[in-house]
Amino acid sequence: MKEITISTKIKVYESAKELPAEYQKLLESARAARDKAYAPYSNFRVGAAVLMGNGAIVQGANQENAAYSMCICAERTALGNAAMQHPEVAVRAIAVTVKSDKKAIAQPVSPCGACRQAISEAEDRQGADMVIILQGSEGEIYVLESGKALLPMGFHGGFL
Ligand code: THU
Repeated sequence: MKEITISTKIKVYESAKELPAEYQKLLESARAARDKAYAPYSNFRVGAAVLMGNGAIVQGANQENAAYSMCICAERTALGNAAMQHPEVAVRAIAVTVKSDKKAIAQPVSPCGACRQAISEAEDRQGADMVIILQGSEGEIYVLESGKALLPMGFHGGFL
């Protein structure tokens, strides 16, 4: 028997002012993207923004549906928009933030499992990791080196 330990490194920033300038701008864009959410059912507005290798920023926000399982998360909306608007350009970083009509969210939002899988496959597709920047509606900001850091032991195309 042997044991494997998987660890995740997270950089914790107390405020956006401590982030590198390009990540501050990206997080600001993710905040603005929340206003483009369609979230009449959850009233939980998620904004995402991706920084492309050519310097462009592409936004996404959650898009809900009365048939709940059809809801599309902000992260996947942003990645889809990026693939359409800048084909062949790698995503360098993705910032995600939230705004709830019910309460302040002081801890960094955590992408759902499906979005972790999509981010991980986008990394495989482009052959490079993307930096993950997470904030709630306020409070600390988490920065991770890759989507894979959020999804250890993920399923991938290599199994097929
Ligand atoms: N949501 C996201 O947009 N991203 C996530 O990673 C988690 C959840 C959305 C889906 C739904 O519209 C709302 O948040 C509540 O689950």
